[in-house]
Amino acid sequence: MKNILKYLGLGLGGLLMLALIMVLFVQFSSPPTFEEVPLPELAVATDSASVQAGKRLVQMNCAGCHLDPESGTLAGRWFGQNPLGEAHTANITRDAATGIAAYTDAELYRLLRTGVKRNHELALPFMPKLVSMSDEEVEDIIAFLRSDDPLLQPVEAERPIELSLLGKALVKFAWKPQPYQAARVKPPRGNAVAYGEYLVNSQLLCFACHSATHEVNLAAPPQTQGYLAGGTEFVEPGQEPVVSPSLRMPADGLGSWTEAQFITAMKEGVRPDGTSFLMPMEAYDELDTIEIRAIWAYLGSLGPAQIAGP
Ligand code: HEC
Ligand code: HEC
Repeated sequence: MKNILKYLGLGLGGLLMLALIMVLFVQFSSPPTFEEVPLPELAVATDSASVQAGKRLVQMNCAGCHLDPESGTLAGRWFGQNPLGEAHTANITRDAATGIAAYTDAELYRLLRTGVKRNHELALPFMPKLVSMSDEEVEDIIAFLRSDDPLLQPVEAERPIELSLLGKALVKFAWKPQPYQAARVKPPRGNAVAYGEYLVNSQLLCFACHSATHEVNLAAPPQTQGYLAGGTEFVEPGQEPVVSPSLRMPADGLGSWTEAQFITAMKEGVRPDGTSFLMPMEAYDELDTIEIRAIWAYLGSLGPAQIAGP
């Protein structure tokens, strides 16, 4: 009996020792790097039309997270605290020390498509990956980030990220770069349903917030669990958590809205019942009516959500 206890004790001690080594490893070893993800050959057009198109995309896709309320530039902000740690969004102004002045066009392209940063580490998964946006539009974004627009005027501001043990374990073992996909060609504006599908799945990533899980399928959006059926929670600093609503029709979601009400809501951020959108949902006042109608047409073409049972 004594012997059994002794061996049990030794076994347990060994396990504890292993667990401790694991914790120390996760806590103190450096995060993985992904040198193998290649850089593209790129020649980004820097004409003013590209810069303007890029600015519009950045205002819709990036400013909500990267706008610093103090300087009014894209110098980053506090992004909240959760079990994974405490994060800021990066300073993406042209500042040499704390911004992204050192990034090349190709490095920006790799980051935006796959999530691999200039230092070869992976950006936190909150930072969206534009895996299927057209090459032209990704290059417009890069052209804008290179421009001397006032939003990018150099601001010196460190934006640290402090991961918890859990966050570090996920960095080590779970999160991986998004593989490169074949980029899409933007459908013509005249084809409302196809154009709306592109906006929802490839350009504005509405589905990434409005599906039943944060673990979305970027390569094949409609295969995401509870695609556009709503149900994920968002925690913003200084606000009660909000849950994304369903955008499916007719049975649920926007089924009782008219197209005109949808257009007003998207442009002004106000619902038919008069209530305003809460963060992280903001008005898309950069979208024109043809684009909003296209989104409406695409959402209407989907039918009610089919959520698999447990
Ligand atoms: C949901 C919030 C969010 C959105 C939207 C977002 N980002 Fe980020 N971004 C982050 C966070 C958080 C980081 C810091 C990630 C890290 O370093 O792990 C980051 C980092 C970056 C970096 C710096 C990487 C580095 O090496 O430090 C660049 C450049 C960047 N984002 C550009 C963009 C662009 C361009 C867009 C729009 C297409 C965008 N981001 C949209 C949250 C966001
Ligand atoms: C960053 C995440 C995020 C993105 C991206 C996003 N939404 Fe939202 N959306 C939300 C959240 C969260 C709410 C709930 C806000 C509230 O409670 O006021 C919401 C609310 C809405 C509503 C109000 C619906 C209702 O029943 O009250 C509509 C319509 C909507 N979003 C459409 C869209 C469309 C279309 C897109 C893409 C162009 C989009 N959203 C992109 C998170 C997002």
